[in-house]
Amino acid sequence: MDQQRETLITWLNDAYSMEHSIIDTLEGMAADAEEDFPELQRLLNQHIETTKAQAERVKGEIERLGGTVSGTKKVMADIMGSIQGLLPDLAKDKVIKNLLAGFATENMEIASYKAIAAAAEEVGETQTVQMARDILNEERGMAKIIDAQLEPTVVEFLRRHINE
Ligand SMILES: [Fe+2]
Repeated sequence: MDQQRETLITWLNDAYSMEHSIIDTLEGMAADAEEDFPELQRLLNQHIETTKAQAERVKGEIERLGGTVSGTKKVMADIMGSIQGLLPDLAKDKVIKNLLAGFATENMEIASYKAIAAAAEEVGETQTVQMARDILNEERGMAKIIDAQLEPTVVEFLRRHINE
């Protein structure tokens, strides 16, 4: 196998482990939103299903290209951990922190799939290009949802939980 294809497979594996660590994170986020933000919880649960399907598509593509799924790296878990670690810890504001981390995560995913689509195009794997673009659109959709949720959720959070 040539080295460019191997590199593409490595990046697909990074995306695969990224999606997997995101599933865990999203489940935690949905639980945090349950009490006060049911609409946000519903959107997060929907994105869990989308993320699982993405992981499967990426896995299928790795195998079609002749690679094997490794998926041991916790790239996103580390990134999410460091983002959340940067934020001040106010017990009740987890929902807000989650939205900040979620926004960062979606944009990291957007960058990853853009990179994969460009690499797949260069290598001549049109099916991989299509997959990356499909997932890219889903991530852009979720980034927009989080973007739209952020301001109203902050306002609602302040009114509900922080005394004037
Ligand atoms: Fe994703």
